[in-house]
Amino acid sequence: MISFAGYDYVIQRVYKYKQEHVFQYWDQLIDSEKKALLDELGIIDFDLLEKIFKLKENSVPEDFSPAPYIKLPEDERDPEFMKARDLGVQFIKEGKVAAFLVAGGQGSRLGFKGPKGKFPVGPVSGKTLFHFHAEKIRASEIKYGVKIPFLIMTSRDNHEETVDFFRENHFFGLTPALVHIFPQNMIPSLDLDGKLILSDKSTIFMNPDGHGGSLSALRSSGALKLLEDMGIEVISYFQVDNPLVKIIDPIFIGFHILNKADVSSKALMKAYHEEKTGVFVRFKNGKLGIIEYSDMPQEKIFAKDSEGGILYCAANPAIHLFDIKFVDKITGSSNVNLPYHVAKKKIEAFKDGQQCEITGLKFEKFVFDAIPMAEKTVILETKREEEFAPVKNASGADSVHTAQAMMNALFRRWLSNRGVKIPDVVDVIEISPFFALQESDIPEGTIVPAQEKVYLE
Ligand code: UTP
Repeated sequence: MISFAGYDYVIQRVYKYKQEHVFQYWDQLIDSEKKALLDELGIIDFDLLEKIFKLKENSVPEDFSPAPYIKLPEDERDPEFMKARDLGVQFIKEGKVAAFLVAGGQGSRLGFKGPKGKFPVGPVSGKTLFHFHAEKIRASEIKYGVKIPFLIMTSRDNHEETVDFFRENHFFGLTPALVHIFPQNMIPSLDLDGKLILSDKSTIFMNPDGHGGSLSALRSSGALKLLEDMGIEVISYFQVDNPLVKIIDPIFIGFHILNKADVSSKALMKAYHEEKTGVFVRFKNGKLGIIEYSDMPQEKIFAKDSEGGILYCAANPAIHLFDIKFVDKITGSSNVNLPYHVAKKKIEAFKDGQQCEITGLKFEKFVFDAIPMAEKTVILETKREEEFAPVKNASGADSVHTAQAMMNALFRRWLSNRGVKIPDVVDVIEISPFFALQESDIPEGTIVPAQEKVYLE
């Protein structure tokens, strides 16, 4: 057994759980590397790893039906929607809403070096995802005359770069003291035999613990307490890779408040049966939740409603509202742990004295697993073309190209619906959140210049 002063307990645990292969390069390490390795091993929950390694397959309840949701009205002046909007506006103005961006993912499909939020998406401005989100929040502050705290969850790998980016850009006009950037927890990946993986001679390979780690990270970072002290009641959760998301949406917030919901979620209508998105369901115990596409039985994927439409039609664009008391409850004394999901992934490992790619198991929590823990959940329909343009891949579907095309189309629609003429020569239009956060914000008398690329700011 190896030894290192002050670390007997850590070393014994590593041997007890038969993970001592992580010491195979011990003799080649300098003291600071040995210490770093032991510090990392010291915070690993080996019991948990043993348990989740046995999971292997994700277990999904079999008995469920489609979830009910609030449909978009034919007429946007629908009294229920107007009531929700008024209530939402009042609530926002009272300073009870915070924005929460999860940006700890590895963005492996996009293949972009650095935090995904630094990826440029503005079709004309070239603005980054972080820039878009921050400006939307700032524009909402101006619109509603209120300060909106902005929480950003990063991971160990991208935390510093994210903080630096916000600092370099002067927090995009937001109040620095109200922007809280904190890293999420990491969890080791395992090889197919349940062994820890080294990424170099003295580092354990770990991955961020999924967007589901965001709720416990809110607590452990101290952000939850800060929000409570500020009188925040609702946390508006969104993901970094959707430039169209309405971060501060009065109608959504209004329905959430009207229904005294613990969690509210937006839903998109599935475009076709095999579309690979999670769908909202109602479990046998009456609770609502989401089932991932890969966990849906084939017959349910193709199930039709009485009119021949898609039965499981409400898809998840990952836009949620969380009641702060609910987050406090499930992460606090009752500490209901969200389950881990496992996925086989390619991992850059250090093995047999060299870097190589192996297949390993990554474990992640999903934020939507909190939904069935809620007493009351509201699901509100939204339109894909207005609110969901994910940037997941470098090219093809769900890439920056599709997202920019959707932005261009949406901004054109806003202008046309407001009676603004768009000269034929115009190829691409981008509207800054400061110019308009939504169609009705487009000022009377707006003129679109006759040029190929137009940026209204
Ligand atoms: P994705 O599931 O799309 O993962 O994350 P990803 O890491 O961004 O991309 P791939 O799968 O490696 O290509 C959806 C959202 O959840 C956040 C991401 O930053 C993104 O906003 N996320 C994901 C976290 O904050 N932490 C995680 O551990 C995982």
